[in-house]
Amino acid sequence: MAIRNILHYPDSRLRTQAKPVPEVDDAIRQLIDDMAETMYDAPGIGLAATQINVHLRIVVIDITREHNQLHVFINPEIIDRQGEETMEEGCLSVPGIYEPVTRAEKITVKALDKNGAPFELEVEGLLAVCIQHEIDHLDGKVFVDYLSRLKQQRIQKKLEKQQRVAM
Ligand code: NI
Repeated sequence: MAIRNILHYPDSRLRTQAKPVPEVDDAIRQLIDDMAETMYDAPGIGLAATQINVHLRIVVIDITREHNQLHVFINPEIIDRQGEETMEEGCLSVPGIYEPVTRAEKITVKALDKNGAPFELEVEGLLAVCIQHEIDHLDGKVFVDYLSRLKQQRIQKKLEKQQRVAM
């Protein structure tokens, strides 16, 4: 396993549309292990392959404090959405920024697991929000896209400044 570098907003590679995984093989499982390790190390509760500059439709999520309930979604698709909920979101690609975003409260997601087997999951609350956030990454979207233009500009400036200092 290896910890991968996480791309930071406004990196244009975060805008890439990820391609479906054609076959769930050992290379994909290795990638998933790296994604989980990178997410736990950060630490974060979700990571999309896009964020480590791999443009395949894979998401890992673990919302537990104990890091013992890893969810893997390969080629995820939201097939039902219900209600609305506003939650404060953050993102490993947008460090230090937390802003409220409104999304569906309850979703049904369809995906493949680590063995390539299809499954469906009906979820709500934080896990539902997190799945929607991560699938957005696969479509080249970042949560700040939902904020006002003024807020987006402020966040962009702040992060560019942080990156200059870090160099
Ligand atoms: Ni994110």
